[in-house]
Amino acid sequence: MQIVLGVSGGIAAYKACLLLRRFTEAGHDVTVIPTAAALRFVGAPTWAALSGKPVADDVWTRVEEVPHVRLGKGADLVVVAPATTDLLAKAAHGLADDLLTNTLLTARCPVVLAPAMHTEMWQHPATVANVATLRERGVHVMDPDSGRLTGADTGPGRLRAPEEIADYALALVHRPDGPLSNRHVVVSAGGTREPIDPVRFLGNRSSGKQGYALAAVAAERGARVTLVSANADLPIPPGVRVVRVETTVELQRAVTAAASDADAIVMAAAPADYRSATYSDHKIKKSGDDDLTLRLVQNPDIVQGLVADRGACPTPVIVSFAAETGDAEASVMEHARAKFARKGSDIQVVNEVGPGVTFGQDQAVIHILTRDGDGIGTAADVGPADKATLARAVWDVVQQHLHTV
Ligand SMILES: Cc1cc2nc3c(=O)[nH]c(=O)nc-3n(C[C@H](O)[C@H](O)[C@H](O)COP(=O)(O)O)c2cc1C
Repeated sequence: MQIVLGVSGGIAAYKACLLLRRFTEAGHDVTVIPTAAALRFVGAPTWAALSGKPVADDVWTRVEEVPHVRLGKGADLVVVAPATTDLLAKAAHGLADDLLTNTLLTARCPVVLAPAMHTEMWQHPATVANVATLRERGVHVMDPDSGRLTGADTGPGRLRAPEEIADYALALVHRPDGPLSNRHVVVSAGGTREPIDPVRFLGNRSSGKQGYALAAVAAERGARVTLVSANADLPIPPGVRVVRVETTVELQRAVTAAASDADAIVMAAAPADYRSATYSDHKIKKSGDDDLTLRLVQNPDIVQGLVADRGACPTPVIVSFAAETGDAEASVMEHARAKFARKGSDIQVVNEVGPGVTFGQDQAVIHILTRDGDGIGTAADVGPADKATLARAVWDVVQQHLHTV
């Protein structure tokens, strides 16, 4: 694998030598790109000797090979360690004033940034905003360790251990032999919020844990994963691109855009069926009346829209979720079967929900329904189990569909 190891000018630059060793010893071809500041900490001969290759450190050397474009385009993985405050800011704003920042803009492979800096710099609002921007864009910014910094001071900002950075980064590269390699899958997660006024919204109890577990397992199995995340506050799984949304209409837009080249779409998010008919641009004040009437209008049905757009095509395989409660009229499974019949999806994952049941919990029970001729069959009943186990069961069924279409 072709790895670009960027090194920016922090005191931890010497630790990148150990990271480089780890990559080369695993058989990877590593090109080191130090910034000018990094070369003041560790010199070019060290990088050249350890990588067995000339050190690429500026855009003006071997210009005929167009290094400012070639290195990024040819990389299977880019890792910057340490990533300085300055490097994070340049990357977030798309600056390209040296070879490393040019390479970050031309790379289309997973990019991992391992920050190292003083706590004040890491926690400064400018750095916090830059990290958020980079993560939104799918760049993998690791959280630094907490511990001893340059001097006697301690706190968050210490470079993660080289072996930890290596393991994290290598796990991001798609497994060419994974059962979902060369597949693009779209997963939605979380619960939508429908604004009423600047401070209030209609929401639901979905935490996003199941959707994030589905995205993580798909990435582990080699898929290119787009995770459309509605208001979930969870760590982004390695190798997953995240698109953040708030409302059901935004969720529909993001999923539909990502669906254009998808092989499978798993709709684990809980979109609101209804939204407020009006939005007040100022906070609604308490009036003298005891009652307040809020008129709701129906949101679009995202799964039905996806099924209609797909027409007669067998792909993408569409998986709907039915989070149901039983009532006087029907059981959870009866409601779920009726919903499956109505939606037209290929697979439906059913779970019973309620306060303390499924939502936000680490364990749950699911039933995976598939179409069986004109009827509905049960492909698997799984659990109680953790959400990663449930996710693996869902992908097993999706994979069977992908191999038969
Ligand atoms: C001794 C010393 C240690 C430094 N350590 C760090 C560091 O750990 N993290 C950081 O963000 N900047 C650190 N800096 C500041 C950077 O070197 C400086 O911002 C530089 O412009 C970064 O350039 P670069 O991002 O192009 O490598 C340090 C500077 C000095 C002199």
